[in-house]
Amino acid sequence: MSAMLEVRALVREYPMGDERVAALRGVTFDVDDGDYAAIVGPSGCGKSTLLNLLGVIDRPTSGTVAIGGERVDQLSDGRATEFRLRRIGFVFQRFYLMQALSARENIELPLAEAGLGKVARRDRARALLDYVGLGAREGHRPSQLSGGEQQRVAIARALANSPKIVLADEPTGELDARTGAEMIALFERLNADGTTIVVVTHDEDLARAARRMIHMRDGVIVGDERAR
Ligand SMILES: Nc1ncnc2c1ncn2[C@@H]1O[C@H](COP(=O)(O)OP(=O)(O)O)[C@@H](O)[C@H]1O
Ligand SMILES: [Mg+2]
Repeated sequence: MSAMLEVRALVREYPMGDERVAALRGVTFDVDDGDYAAIVGPSGCGKSTLLNLLGVIDRPTSGTVAIGGERVDQLSDGRATEFRLRRIGFVFQRFYLMQALSARENIELPLAEAGLGKVARRDRARALLDYVGLGAREGHRPSQLSGGEQQRVAIARALANSPKIVLADEPTGELDARTGAEMIALFERLNADGTTIVVVTHDEDLARAARRMIHMRDGVIVGDERAR
């Protein structure tokens, strides 16, 4: 298998007054194309910092990140935005849907940014809503949807431009156990359909569903195991 993700000696320091806090202190790992990895570890160990670097939302202090063979750690803001739009699907704990837009319109946003025409956008958004099991909710606003339904819309939005990799930061963190279980099943289906997934989670059930568990502590990787 080829590497979808190549992370080398990644360091991220945050300035804190005159001091610097090292949130990541040298992280190196690969994720194969088609793999499904969970990143676990105590609060504050650097999981979100790492995921934001993988998602080209943030830039490292030093070290490199390559996605699909392309270096992304030093992209300009414009190139980073373009890369994120087309190559990465990011799922947040708190969904971050546009409250004034319907489920379908939320999914159409990244399609419009990628230049798709009106009819193609609508058809693609409907297909994605069907994929996540929300075909009957296309006109609902986020406030008219349950937490689990909102997260499904957010996942459909993340998939809009057929990203090669999906990154998710605590995607079941706001959901009850039953809804979380539905989300776990959806991620497994997504991976079975060929999408590489990296998920940060406290949720043991979600972590166990992944093929691989990467353990972090205090800004470094301390364990890396294949689940089965
Ligand atoms: N923007 C920031 N400025 C300063 N320190 C930060 C910032 N973001 C995170 N940190 C610090 O970096 C460390 C790692 O944080 P984070 O990546 O959010 O951990 P996790 O997601 O594992 O809970 C923590 O000590 C946190 O306080
Ligand atoms: Mg976090």
